[in-house]
Amino acid sequence: MADTTKKPEAKIRKVNFKFEKPFPKHWYNDNPIATHFMNAQHLAFPDGEKFFIRSVKAFADIYKNDTELKTRVDNFIGQEGTHYAEHQKFWDIMESQDLKPMKFVDFFRATAWNGLESFVRKSLKKNRLGDKLALSVTVGLEHYTAMLAESGILNKDITKNMPEEMKDLFMWHAAEEIEHKAIPFDVLKKVDDSYALRVGGMAVATWGLWFYLAAGTVVLTHQDEDIKRKDIPKHLVSFLTNFNKSFGGTITEQFWQYFKKDFHPDQIDNYHLAEELLKGKNYA
Ligand SMILES: [Fe+2]
Ligand SMILES: [Fe+2]
Repeated sequence: MADTTKKPEAKIRKVNFKFEKPFPKHWYNDNPIATHFMNAQHLAFPDGEKFFIRSVKAFADIYKNDTELKTRVDNFIGQEGTHYAEHQKFWDIMESQDLKPMKFVDFFRATAWNGLESFVRKSLKKNRLGDKLALSVTVGLEHYTAMLAESGILNKDITKNMPEEMKDLFMWHAAEEIEHKAIPFDVLKKVDDSYALRVGGMAVATWGLWFYLAAGTVVLTHQDEDIKRKDIPKHLVSFLTNFNKSFGGTITEQFWQYFKKDFHPDQIDNYHLAEELLKGKNYA
């Protein structure tokens, strides 16, 4: 089992990624489908990260007197706040490429947050079950971001064909996802240690993540008038094959680890990857 005493500080760094216009429209692997899958992440992360922040903050009364956990949560909130601001900058570039990112964002907001989240929080008030579920979905999604981050850092092929600024954004984000991966988990543990709750949250997280990333990819591909329709199957096959090669093994294995009764994110030994990646970068 990994040494849990070596938890890094989830430091809040000042970054400022700049994307120049005109930015190549099919910037990832020269593949429009793969690009729109990544673009869907630029659209989904900001609202998703705001959800993580309010899900953790909803239990401030429980962690506020635990000085160490409170400091870690403040850092988690600071990191996620910076992430969403940086990803959101790219929405403007997408507009300049004749895409309509807000069409997807509006759908995402109406269904996921104003729809499902709001319904669950309001209708399951007894024992704060709705808020606990939201927190456990957050913990499930943080497990996903940490898994994707590890693959992204280790498998150099993933970022090989990506503009440098974009690669820097995703790698910085990946490193911080690893740094803070255990923080919402530790809040959930303190709030309610139920295995069923944690696993239930992961079920919703799995559906939500893949459904909305797939929906974003489809919506953006449909909006993109620079794709030759006849080439779509070829791009799709290439995207799925590469995706499976890049993420398949690691994600499947680490996904199932989450279902162990005594699972804790520190058992996946990857803090050093974040440390190595951030070393030498001059983020303040
Ligand atoms: Fe993040
Ligand atoms: Fe995160």
